[in-house]
Amino acid sequence: MKKIAIINGPNLNFLGIRQKEIYGSKYLEDINRRISKEAQKFGFETIFFCSNSEGAIIDKIQKCFFNEIDGIIINAGAYTHYSYAIRDAIASVSIPTIEVHLSNIYAREPFREKSVIAPVCIGQITGFGEYSYIMALDYFNNILNKSTTTF
Ligand code: DQA
Repeated sequence: MKKIAIINGPNLNFLGIRQKEIYGSKYLEDINRRISKEAQKFGFETIFFCSNSEGAIIDKIQKCFFNEIDGIIINAGAYTHYSYAIRDAIASVSIPTIEVHLSNIYAREPFREKSVIAPVCIGQITGFGEYSYIMALDYFNNILNKSTTTF
């Protein structure tokens, strides 16, 4: 069974409370439940992790290496825009990683337009709400289960 880790960064534990007009009214637990359901359809085991702390996120990415995780879906929250340490962790483990965002980071404040982790990810999915995560799963289904790419 292929294993996908879903890693969420700072303030994503506050979904459902935080800026609902931007992030929607669902709690992270609700979103994770949907991801888990969709992942089952693809035969994936899912590992969920959420932390407000940069070091904890890096530790988790490194654990993914030792636990032979097949793919990582990461929403690094605001760390996306400036954490070279998370970028280095992703580059270090050489696990296919997709960067996701609920909101469209290009339609907001200018500081959000820059992702320092995007260059070490397969790609970035941004602006589709919780569906951003589902699209990432669909991609992993294509490359891990069907040995093809979607493009
Ligand atoms: C976010 C976008 C980031 O800019 C922001 O700091 C977040 C959430 C998103 O999912 O839209 O915390 O990653």
